[in-house]
Amino acid sequence: MSRVALVTGGTRGIGAAISMALKEAGYTVAAVYAGNDEAAREFSHVTGIHTYKWSVADYDECEEGIRRVEGELGPIDVLVNNAGITRDAPFHKMSRTQWKEVIDTNLSGVFNMTHPVWPGMRERKFGRIINISSINGQKGQFGQVNYSAAKAGDLGFTKALAQEGARFGVTVNAICPGYIATEMVMAVPEKVRESIIATIPVGRLGEAEEIARCVLFLASDQAGFITGSTLSANGGQYLA
Ligand code: CAA
Repeated sequence: MSRVALVTGGTRGIGAAISMALKEAGYTVAAVYAGNDEAAREFSHVTGIHTYKWSVADYDECEEGIRRVEGELGPIDVLVNNAGITRDAPFHKMSRTQWKEVIDTNLSGVFNMTHPVWPGMRERKFGRIINISSINGQKGQFGQVNYSAAKAGDLGFTKALAQEGARFGVTVNAICPGYIATEMVMAVPEKVRESIIATIPVGRLGEAEEIARCVLFLASDQAGFITGSTLSANGGQYLA
């Protein structure tokens, strides 16, 4: 029986590449999305991947959605916490709403999704939690106090939970992508984006598939001795 993988934010950007790579590798994949029905419908049509709609920012929706996925596809073996949003602004202009939305999705969302799948993974003595953090959680970024705080929080979450899962065959790891050619990065003003690319030693944005390949490795049996780690994939932009 193929393993079941759930990818949040799994129908667009990095998440879509992760969903497709996992499917290609033989996993049964559930791609969760929060808002864009049209993109999800198109994604499901083209890839044949099951899509589910709920907000990772809402604990009750996560619990109910995970129960539905497990009822339809089977117990979740691999959880990829990829869903993330930006609400960039310099701190003096950042509203409480911009702070809260980013923390609720990018940090609490990781708790809300992981907590319901955790008991089953412990019982079955196998699990893979893979948290997509960010280079900006490692180094900080002008205009992203909210995002950097949430993404750094994801790294602390990863290191602490890894210690609790280790005896049960459940690994918890983080990936820190650098600037990847997705809609999120393309939304950064062009001049700012160009100045960022100039600081990337490989001289280009990353590809979503390059992050998907990191996920495949961490999800595999071969990565069973790796837990609590942070895998940076940023073209040399920041050496943590
Ligand atoms: N360092 C120092 N100063 C900077 C700066 C930086 N990195 N970036 C901007 N500034 C300065 C500007 O020069 C300007 O100064 P002056 O007014 O003296 O010219 C000032 O800050 C900008 O102030 P504004 O009031 O005009 O700022 P704004 O309200 O237009 O907001 C911003 C600017 C939203 C922060 C914009 O600079 C921006 O979008 N920056 C990019 C943030 C970023 O990298 N986001 C990543 C998104 S992708 C992602 O998050 C994925 C991932 O994980 C990597």
